[in-house]
Amino acid sequence: MMDQVNLGMIGGGTVGSGVVHALQQNAELMTSRTGVLIRLAKVAVKALDEPRPYPIPRVLMTTDWQAVVNDPQIQMVTELVGGTTLARTIVLAALRLGKPVITANKALLSAHGEELFAAAAKHGTNLYYEASVCGGIPIIKALREGFVGNRITHLYGIVNGTCNYILTRMKLEGADFDTVLKDAQAQGYAEAEPSLDVDGHDAQHKIGILASLAHGFWVNPKDIYVEGIRHISRIDIQFADRLGYTIKLLGIIKILPAATTKSRKPGSTAGARVQVSVYPTLVPNTHVLANVNHVFNAVFVRGNIVGDTLFYGRGAGKDATASAVLSDLVDAALDLKFATPHRIPPFAPHEKAGAVARIEDVVSRYFVRLSVSDVPGTLARITRILGEARIGISSVIQPEGHEGESVPLILMLHTAASGTVTAALSTISKLPVVKASPVLLRVETFE
Ligand code: NDP
Ligand code: HSE
Repeated sequence: MMDQVNLGMIGGGTVGSGVVHALQQNAELMTSRTGVLIRLAKVAVKALDEPRPYPIPRVLMTTDWQAVVNDPQIQMVTELVGGTTLARTIVLAALRLGKPVITANKALLSAHGEELFAAAAKHGTNLYYEASVCGGIPIIKALREGFVGNRITHLYGIVNGTCNYILTRMKLEGADFDTVLKDAQAQGYAEAEPSLDVDGHDAQHKIGILASLAHGFWVNPKDIYVEGIRHISRIDIQFADRLGYTIKLLGIIKILPAATTKSRKPGSTAGARVQVSVYPTLVPNTHVLANVNHVFNAVFVRGNIVGDTLFYGRGAGKDATASAVLSDLVDAALDLKFATPHRIPPFAPHEKAGAVARIEDVVSRYFVRLSVSDVPGTLARITRILGEARIGISSVIQPEGHEGESVPLILMLHTAASGTVTAALSTISKLPVVKASPVLLRVETFE
C-alpha cells in the first residue's frame, strides 16, 4: 500500500502559500494520524519573484503548470489559481489523467461544476472542494457526511468574509465602505475582482454549492436571487440597530412551507420548492448570527433529525483556507491509498424534481427606508398604497425634521410576498413626495 503521495500545486498566492506553510508545520502530524505522507513535489506560479504571504522554497517552484500536472510522479493536484478559464483547463487536464484534484474555487464550481464532476467520474477519480465554501469551516463535510441522515429544512449562512468585515466595521466604528474594502483586500480576504464579494456573487457561488448538496439537485446560479451590500448605508445600519437588528449579508436556503404537502411521505421533500437567495438581511440582535463579526463566517443548519446546529470560523484568509485544503488533501491521499476514489462522490444527485422558488413568491417581513418631503399628507399617501396592497405596517419611525425638507421615513412591514412589496414600493417611489429610491431590506425571523 502507498505510504507517500506526491502533490503538485498550481497557484502559490494567498491560499497556495498558506497551504505550503501549513504542510511545513503539520505534514508530520497528519502522517501520524493517517499513515500517509503528503509530499509537496512542485508548485507552479505565474511569476517566480512575485511577493507572497509565505515564502515557497525556490527549488519547488516553476512557472510551467502543465509540467506539474503531467509529471508521472505527481499523483494529486491542487488548483489554487482562481477564475474560471485557466482553472477549468487545469482541473480538466488533471482529471483526464485520473489524478484527483483539490480546489478552493467556488466560482469555477458554480460555472462548471457538473462538467467537472462528470469528468472526474469518467476518468475514475475525484474532485474535492471543502475550501470553496466558508474558508476553514468544514461545512461541505458536515452536509455530505455529518448530516447524511437529515433532511436540511433551513440553512442560513454568513458566507462572505469580506462583506461581513465591511458591515461589521461600518456598524461598530462607523467606518466608510471604501476604506474598509481596501483593508479587506490588503488582508487577502477579498477576491481578485472585489465586485465578486460586494455584489454578492461570491456568496451566490457558495450558497449554490451548499443548496445543491443539501437538496440533491444542482442549483443553477442564475436561479439564485442576489443582492450585494453596495446600497447599504450607515443610516440603514443605525436605524436597524435602533429597531433591534443587525444587517448581515445572509445566504438563505429554505424549503418553502407550501411545498410541505400532506400527501408526501413523512420527512420527504420530493418536488420541494426551495428558497435559495443572498441578500442583506435584518437579523434580530438576539440571534447568534447577529454577533458573527469581522471576517468570521457562520452557517446555521436545521436538520429534521438533528435540529439546530451552528458552524463558526474564519471564512477567508491564507491559514483558515489552508486548513480546509489540508483536510481535502488527506481525503484524496487516503482514497488513493485505498483505491476508493468514489467513496464520497463530489455531488450525488438525489432529488431531481426539486426546484428553486421565484423570489416574488418568497414571503418575509421588511424594513423600508424612504426619503420623503416633510409635508402634510405624505404618510397618508404612502400608507394608502400599502393598505390597498394588503401590506401591514408594524412600526414607523420618522425623526423630527423641518417642514418641507427631506427626512428619512422608516417602515417595518408585516409578512408579505416579495412580489407584492416590490410592486407597492414601485408605486410609492413615483409619488412626488418621495425624494430618492427606496431602500428595501428583508427581515429574517428564523422560524
Ligand atoms: P491569489 O491571487 O493570491 O493567488 C493566485 C495564484 O495563482 C498565484 O500564486 C498566481 O501566481 C497563480 N497563477 C496565476 N496564473 C497562473 C499561471 N498561468 N500558472 C501558474 N500559476 C498561476 O488568489 P487566492 O490564493 O486568494 O485565491 C485562490 C483561489 O482560492 C480562488 O479560487 C479563490 O476564490 C479561492 N479562495 C480564496 C480565499 C482567500 O481568502 N483568499 C478563501 C477561500 C477560497 P503568482 O503568485 O506568481 O502571481
Ligand atoms: N473573498 C472571499 C470572502 C474569500 O471574502 O469570503 C473566501 O471565499
